[in-house]
Amino acid sequence: DNAGSADYIPKEQWGSRIGVILAVAGSAVGLGNFLRFPGQAAQNGGGAFLLPYFISLLVLGIPLCWAEWTMGRFSGVRGFHSAPGVFSIACRNAKARYLSVFALLIPLVIYMYYIVIEAWCLGYAWNYATGNLMLGADPDAYTGFFNDFVGAEQDGYTFGPGIKLLGFIAITFLVNFVLIYRGVSKGIETFCKFAIPLMTICAICVLCRVLTLPRDQVMAGLGFMWNPKPEALLNSQTWLAASSQIFFSLSVGFGVIINYSSYLSKKDDVVLSGLTACSMNEFFEVCLGGMITIPAAFIFLGVSAASFTTFGLGFNALPNVFAQMPAGQLFGFLWFFMLFLAAITSSLSMLQPVIAFLEEGFGLERRASASILGIIALSGTMFVVYFSAGLTALDTFDFWVGTFLIFVLAMVQAVIYGWVFGIKRGAYESSIGAYIKIPTPVHYLLKYIVPVYLGVIFIAFIYQSV
Ligand code: PFF
Repeated sequence: DNAGSADYIPKEQWGSRIGVILAVAGSAVGLGNFLRFPGQAAQNGGGAFLLPYFISLLVLGIPLCWAEWTMGRFSGVRGFHSAPGVFSIACRNAKARYLSVFALLIPLVIYMYYIVIEAWCLGYAWNYATGNLMLGADPDAYTGFFNDFVGAEQDGYTFGPGIKLLGFIAITFLVNFVLIYRGVSKGIETFCKFAIPLMTICAICVLCRVLTLPRDQVMAGLGFMWNPKPEALLNSQTWLAASSQIFFSLSVGFGVIINYSSYLSKKDDVVLSGLTACSMNEFFEVCLGGMITIPAAFIFLGVSAASFTTFGLGFNALPNVFAQMPAGQLFGFLWFFMLFLAAITSSLSMLQPVIAFLEEGFGLERRASASILGIIALSGTMFVVYFSAGLTALDTFDFWVGTFLIFVLAMVQAVIYGWVFGIKRGAYESSIGAYIKIPTPVHYLLKYIVPVYLGVIFIAFIYQSV
């Protein structure tokens, strides 16, 4: 084939500018915004968390996101879409492909547990629609429902997931694979164009409902989440949590954006598109995620809301909230359906890098790649579902892959961009087709500050945990 030559014609391309922005924003906006962010913020200093959080956004998130968009398109227009391809092209050295192994592994492993929570969302939406989740005012009823549904550990005894959950996992898997199978433009882009507006409407409805509860309760709930605890700033854990939340949330440092942006053409803008997708993500995270989950849980449950694990929070705490508010069944349905849509536009993006790798690395057709990937992913998911003692395994996975490994990959990418690809080339490549330019200091930031910043937090963290 003609990969690598100037007249290369790509097999896949995004259909429209708004389509690619929505697809990247779809990847970014997900469970991380509505469940992980509020949990992390509440556990790491409340309002004080926002300081390291926004510093990480400006110093790490947006710059690395631009670097990924730039290198992804650079290599995509030369015919390489998979992480090994992008790394080799950006470094002009075929050996660099070995550095990209995390960029394939991380999204695949995250997919294996992410999809389980996605299936919970679908299951909860269904159970609200059918009225099964209107269990009255007893918090134990919801915990019981949750434990039964997810097959979590109870009294030291672990039982597998119920048949219902397996059904929802099957449906979720199928939807993901049909969309992936249809391809970048016909599958992912088309779906995101309809799912994101719908998700936004659902989220705003739930937010309005929460904020129109009695005023003093709303203020107390927001205060519980946001009152700053400045002493948290002295703890390196807070800084690590803030920067890994930025990566997780923006889908930066995962090998996802280098892949998505590789389907752009030479004429396409990368700078403004990247910034738009980041801004959309922050709107969903801070304005919606940060205002709904924890404040609402606090209003109805008090401080015990703080005891839930990262991903368990929305499922254990919020049903109590919906039980106590007028039209709770409707809002419960809207909330979980919204979470499902947010999750699916993210999980799609975790599969695409691996598909691109199988197609490019082994010359497989999309159909064969999707089937092989399906088998691998499903085995991993079944492992998570059956052999993990409930939620602890999710949090462990989330820590090692969703926090630890992404640091390593982010660091590798920053070094490649700053030192190997080169910031001069970066400035030139990113300016092609762009509506705005990446400010010059950002290139220097990527070259000198980002690797050091990541290194310092990382070392401080290792030092603290041993
Ligand atoms: N950014 C997504 C979220 O906030 O939920 C999660 C995510 C998507 C992580 C894609 C990794 C990934 F490759």
